[in-house]
Amino acid sequence: MKMDIEEILYTKEQISCKVKELGQQITRDYNGEEVIVIGVLKGANIFLGDLIREINLPLYIDFMAVSSYGYSTQTSGVVKILKDLDLEVENKHVLIIEDIVDTGLTLKYLTENLRSRKLASLKICTLLDKPSRRKCDLYLDYVGFDIPDEFIVGYGIDYAEKYRNLPFIATLKPEVYESLS
Ligand code: PRP
Ligand code: MN
Ligand code: MG
Repeated sequence: MKMDIEEILYTKEQISCKVKELGQQITRDYNGEEVIVIGVLKGANIFLGDLIREINLPLYIDFMAVSSYGYSTQTSGVVKILKDLDLEVENKHVLIIEDIVDTGLTLKYLTENLRSRKLASLKICTLLDKPSRRKCDLYLDYVGFDIPDEFIVGYGIDYAEKYRNLPFIATLKPEVYESLS
């Protein structure tokens, strides 16, 4: 694992500091209101786990799983829901939690889908944003770090399902993803 890493972009401490900041901001903004956080499986799992412990609000957790469209596809933005919500969200404040926004197509689809469910409000919180890769219009309410268009892993983010358990966020050596692809 260690030998596959090229460079650490954000250490465990830097991530933790940012997560605290985001949690405090969310706590302030929702001003005592109840919120349902929705994690997008699987990548958002670790960020969600840390973030919710920095949010001081009455809070409910749910998850959605959507099909990924892979790398080769010039995606049409067609995303399929593999696991839908368990909780009722009508008239609720909903906050989607993501690890990273890349083309934005996953969240475009999810937000459009959720908006039809008569929520009280809908916001997005992502730890990482790659704005240079965006393929659609998407407003992000909370962003941890803006990152350049580099291949990154760790803190929930995978390459071919590996590296999610790294406590930091790092770039991979090119030979790693060249050999696997
Ligand atoms: C990754 C990431 C986001 C999405 C961002 O998930 O966790 O959910 O891609 O890409 P987009 O902005 O181009 O839509 P992935 O589909 O790899 O599934 P995973 O979370 O299970 O790794
Ligand atoms: Mn994901
Ligand atoms: Mg992935």
